[in-house]
Amino acid sequence: MAQQFDTSVPNIARVYDYWLGGKDNFAADRELAAQLTAVYPPIAQMIWDNRQFLARAVGWVARQGISQFIDLGPGLPTSPSTHEAARAVRSGTTVAYVDFDPLVVSHLDALVAKGQDGVVVMAADLRDRDAVLSAPDLAGHIDLSRPACLIMGAVLHFLDAEAAAELAASYTQILAPGSYVILTVGRGDGEVADRFFSMYRAAASMHSHSVEQFATFFEGLEIVPPGLLLAEQWQPDQQHVRPVPKRPGEVLVGVGKVPGPPHGVLAEMTIQRMDNVAIVVDDLDAPTVPNSSARWHSTRASSCSVTSAAPRASSSP
Ligand SMILES: C[S@@+](CC[C@H](N)C(=O)[O-])C[C@H]1O[C@@H](n2cnc3c(N)ncnc32)[C@H](O)[C@@H]1O
Repeated sequence: MAQQFDTSVPNIARVYDYWLGGKDNFAADRELAAQLTAVYPPIAQMIWDNRQFLARAVGWVARQGISQFIDLGPGLPTSPSTHEAARAVRSGTTVAYVDFDPLVVSHLDALVAKGQDGVVVMAADLRDRDAVLSAPDLAGHIDLSRPACLIMGAVLHFLDAEAAAELAASYTQILAPGSYVILTVGRGDGEVADRFFSMYRAAASMHSHSVEQFATFFEGLEIVPPGLLLAEQWQPDQQHVRPVPKRPGEVLVGVGKVPGPPHGVLAEMTIQRMDNVAIVVDDLDAPTVPNSSARWHSTRASSCSVTSAAPRASSSP
C-alpha cells in the first residue's frame, strides 16, 4: 500500500534525506531528525556509513559481472545512487527502484526522465513480493532467469526478525544461481538506543535485530567476505577487519550470494560484532548460512579473524 504524502508528519525517507544533507525535507522531518540527533549525535555519520557501504557493495557486485539490480526501498536520490555506483563499473547496467513513498517515487521518476535508459521506478510495497515481481516495469527490465542483485538497505529493521527473515528468503528463492543480495539494518542496545527507537516511532516502528537474527536474513546464501560486519568495516577483498569501539548504535551489513557461478567458494567466515563477540561458521563443507543442520559457535575475539575466498588468505592473529 502506498504511503500518503503529508508534510505535517515526519517521514523516514525525508528524515534520512535531512541527515544526508538533502533538501527534500520539511519542518516536521527536520524536527524529528534534530531530536534523534540530540539523543544519538553519531546518527548522521551512521547513515553516511550505510550509504557508502551500499555504494562499495554495489560496485563490488558489478565487478563480479552482475548487470541488473533491484533496489527495494532506495530512499530519496543521493549520490552515489545504486545506478551511479553500478554504472561506474558497467555502463549498461539495468536498475529497478521500488519504493512506497510517493515523494521518493516522484524524485526518482524525475531523475529517470533526465535520461537514464535502463533505470525504472516502481511504486510498490516491498512486503508484497509477488506484486513487486509481476509489475510490468520490473518484469520488462529485469530478467530473473539471469543473475541479478537485490538490495534491501535499511528497510528490514521495519519488520520483526521473523518477518524480515521470511521476506528476505522469499526474494532470495526467486533469484538465479550466481545472484547477490545486499542487506543492511540499523540497530542498537541500551538506554540510548531504547530512547532513540521510541522517538523514531513518530515516523516508523523499528526493530533492533541482533547479529544472530541478521544472519538469519541470509539463509540459503553464501556470505561474501569479509562477512557480516558494521558498515564502516566492510571493505571488499580485505583480509583484516578494522576493530571499532562499542557504541549504542550501529549499522549491520552484509552481502550474500545465491550458490552457483561465477563467484568462488567461501571457507571460514567471521561475523564481527562491535563488542568483539564473533560468530564463526565452522562447517567448511556447508558454506551457506546455516539452517538447523549447520554448526555455529560463538567466540569472544580479542581481534577479528577473516578467512577469505580462494586464493585462501591467512587469517590475522
Ligand atoms: C531508511 S530509508 C533507506 C534508504 C536506502 N535504502 C538506504 O539504505 O540508505 C527507507 C526507504 O525504504 C522505503 N520503505 C520503507 N518501507 C517500505 C515498504 N514496505 N515498501 C516500499 N518501500 C519502503 C521508505 O519509503 C524509504 O524510502
